[in-house]
Amino acid sequence: MLSTSSPAEDRIADLEERISALGPWFHNLRLGGVQTAPQHFLGDYPQVKYERFAQALPTDLSGKSVLDIGCNAGFYSFEMKRRGAERVVGIDSDEHYLAQARFAAGVLGAEVEFRKMTVWEIGALAERFDVVIFMGVLYHLRHPLLALDLIHEHVARDLLLFQSMQRGSRTVAPVSEDYDFLDKDHFEEPGYPKMSFVEHKYAHDETNWWVPNRACAEAMLRSSGFRIESQPEDEVYLCRWTELSDPPDGPRCVYPARG
Ligand SMILES: C[S@@+](CC[C@H](N)C(=O)[O-])C[C@H]1O[C@@H](n2cnc3c(N)ncnc32)[C@H](O)[C@@H]1O
Repeated sequence: MLSTSSPAEDRIADLEERISALGPWFHNLRLGGVQTAPQHFLGDYPQVKYERFAQALPTDLSGKSVLDIGCNAGFYSFEMKRRGAERVVGIDSDEHYLAQARFAAGVLGAEVEFRKMTVWEIGALAERFDVVIFMGVLYHLRHPLLALDLIHEHVARDLLLFQSMQRGSRTVAPVSEDYDFLDKDHFEEPGYPKMSFVEHKYAHDETNWWVPNRACAEAMLRSSGFRIESQPEDEVYLCRWTELSDPPDGPRCVYPARG
């Protein structure tokens, strides 16, 4: 039987089929006119979030390198490539999402290197990047501060784009350099840095381990050697790498440089 559809309709139908086979998608990408997650529970995600902080990022990344840790299907990697980044590397622990990212790169014609790698192994990259993206990963980790230490120690050179889910108070109380052993009241202050441990699940997701309040997210960044330059969106921070000396209780990074 003769086909009644046009080549354009056939192309869309083929794309829809391949996108569906690679699902479910967390990133709603637009691939050749087809959306990958049009029914996303957070709306047109992460496009809607990105629009709220995109203006804080350098518009021209020509000649710059970018590492996207926990890249998922590559939304931020592709956006950095659109800004002219010379080299973009996306890493993720989940092959399911990497398959999506590689497929999307092919459809978009975007030259991004996607690698299966966890944040614990980034020392093996043996390379520093001008921009490191660490969005939406911290609270998925059993050892969140170690991840920030590793990023500082091994891969960040200048900018860190950071986001974490936050719960609890949004106030940030001033923190003293020190407190007497008998001073306990500040622990009860809503704006004191606090992180909730998720023993079982949060939002039906057993990969949610630790959820900081705002003060804690900011304190962890500072403590790991990242100066907060701006907070362009509720949970998003643009930070700059700073020199750190080791704390008195030993070296800050306990993971091997080579994975
Ligand atoms: C909530 S998604 C965030 C995706 C993307 N960065 C964003 O902000 O839209 C978390 C991603 O981090 C990845 N991930 C979780 N643990 C990781 C780890 N230890 N190392 C690298 N990636 C990890 C997951 O597979 C997932 O793709």
